Amino acid sequence: MPTDLPTDEWLRLADAVARLARDWLDDLDRRPIAPRTRGAEAIAALGGEAPEVGLGHAVVDRLREVLPRARAQNGRFLGYVLGSGEPAGAVADLLASVLNQNVTAWRSSPAAVTVERTVVSWLAAALGCGGFGGSLTGGGSAANLMGLAMAREGRAPAREAGRPEGVVYASEEVHMSIPKAVALLGIGTRNLRRIAVDGAQRMRVDALERALAEDVAAGRRPIAVVATAGTVATGAIDPLDAIADVAARYGAWLHVDGAYGALAALAAPDRLAGLRRADSLSVDAHKWLYQAVDCGCLLFRDAAAARRAFSDSGEYVKTGSDDAVEGFAFFDESVELSRRFRALRLWTSIQFHGLGAFRAAIARDLAHARALAARVAAEPRLELLAAGDLSAVCFRHRWPADADARNAALLRAVNARGRVYLSNAVVGGVFALRACFVNHRTTDADVEEVVQEVLAAGEGVG
Ligand SMILES: Cc1ncc(COP(=O)(O)O)c(C=O)c1O
Repeated sequence: MPTDLPTDEWLRLADAVARLARDWLDDLDRRPIAPRTRGAEAIAALGGEAPEVGLGHAVVDRLREVLPRARAQNGRFLGYVLGSGEPAGAVADLLASVLNQNVTAWRSSPAAVTVERTVVSWLAAALGCGGFGGSLTGGGSAANLMGLAMAREGRAPAREAGRPEGVVYASEEVHMSIPKAVALLGIGTRNLRRIAVDGAQRMRVDALERALAEDVAAGRRPIAVVATAGTVATGAIDPLDAIADVAARYGAWLHVDGAYGALAALAAPDRLAGLRRADSLSVDAHKWLYQAVDCGCLLFRDAAAARRAFSDSGEYVKTGSDDAVEGFAFFDESVELSRRFRALRLWTSIQFHGLGAFRAAIARDLAHARALAARVAAEPRLELLAAGDLSAVCFRHRWPADADARNAALLRAVNARGRVYLSNAVVGGVFALRACFVNHRTTDADVEEVVQEVLAAGEGVG
């Protein structure tokens, strides 16, 4: 049986772990960006049998072993779409775990439910979607699944006998979580129309309209149009207003996948003005609000639509109250029942720094992306492939032959050097190196180092 710790002993343990975290943060900039470990080495260091007799405070030495095998997200970590991990919010995680609130319903956890509903309203307001409801999720993939579950239940309810085949529409550049959700919801990937994109990787509205018209003429029923506010490869923002008009004309639900880009509205609201047209909207605070994983969110316009999809009875009866505040239950509006107190991290982080600091950091990310694109465009050995609407920059080294294979080798070489971490994308059919700025630690000097590192690594590949 685990035993409860005397609180002074608990504090000693927490203090030792906080010091470990401080060491990590102090050394972040010097650490190799990709940990120098291999599978067998990591298992030898961190694996093994569970001890029969506890290590007590020596467990801190075991925790110390985790650090050199972890990826260091310093200012030059620019891979994927991964927020940099804001440490003030991380402290709140400790308290959230100690409080151990189960964020099911107000009745179970008044403080946690109130805090989560508060941060959801802050996110909605930041996106120009005041009045939307929602809940925090494990990430954008879970939010996309829940948004499409609401669409399916709204437009082609499972209980409707003999309903026609339902169809979902999304661009060729849509994130892989959408086909996954379509498959999981039983809509069937054959009923996912991948709509062509234009030269800027944005969904072509004329092609969308044509696909909708063909399906309706053939007796199929449009369920949802998924617009993306920040495609994962290049950060393209689909034309949200025009797509919303078409979706409305055909009676389709509009889900916006804003996991990557929606929060850029904090710094560049004009680019994302159409977000408020969404019926449901995914947004990831663990991407462009710099929060530690996990902190996704699904926002929706109509709570009744959420209850149709997720509530057993569609009523508040299970909570024993029909008061709008005290009768509220996340389990009526979400796929989850037991839920951790994720919101405390974001609530703490936003209050510690203030929204203005987040706006400034996002504006800096946008400026860093522009600076890298300009630097790449001016460098004859490099070719700029895409610098989309947000903060993803795709480029490659010019080589007269085997450019795809050589750029793939270049990416491995850049990351192995340990200073800069990039990921990859396919743009216009060619392999691209990709830098994505959702990192509050990036400096102007880090941007310059990306180019230096790529050119230096390129000499070894060419
Ligand atoms: C556009 C887009 N949608 C959805 C996701 C999935 O988000 P998550 O990793 O939080 O599940 C991502 C992740 O990069 C994304 O870029």
